[in-house]
Amino acid sequence: MSKHHLIWNESRHCIGIAAIDDQHREIIGRVNLIADAVDQVNRHEAAQEMMDDLILFACEHFALEERLMTEYGFPDLEEHIAEHLGLLQQLNNLRNALHTPSPAKAALVSAFITDWAEQHILQFDKEIGAFLTAKGMS
Ligand SMILES: [Fe+2]
Ligand SMILES: [Fe+2]
Repeated sequence: MSKHHLIWNESRHCIGIAAIDDQHREIIGRVNLIADAVDQVNRHEAAQEMMDDLILFACEHFALEERLMTEYGFPDLEEHIAEHLGLLQQLNNLRNALHTPSPAKAALVSAFITDWAEQHILQFDKEIGAFLTAKGMS
């Protein structure tokens, strides 16, 4: 396991909504695999393909969160959607940066994992979790 990995921690990362937590677990797993691939010279094409898949998966994931926020009347919907757009922009930038492999690229992916998991999930998605669980969802 490389130093770039983020370890999923149920009590730290779960927001309490099973469908969203499952997708977050999957996302962190995929980003860790990409971090491994960009670290290896002969695997940068695989890393690009995994990144394409991750972008599609992230779009599905953001759509799920946005649908639930809309359905239940989450008050900070617009701010959250803007955050998602920013994350997609970062993912696309990383995807474009993966043309050639290098330790610097691995560091970029690593920084992105931290950003997403530590900031977006813990700060923004936890708010959705608290809001939806208060509405009786799980
Ligand atoms: Fe989100
Ligand atoms: Fe999320």
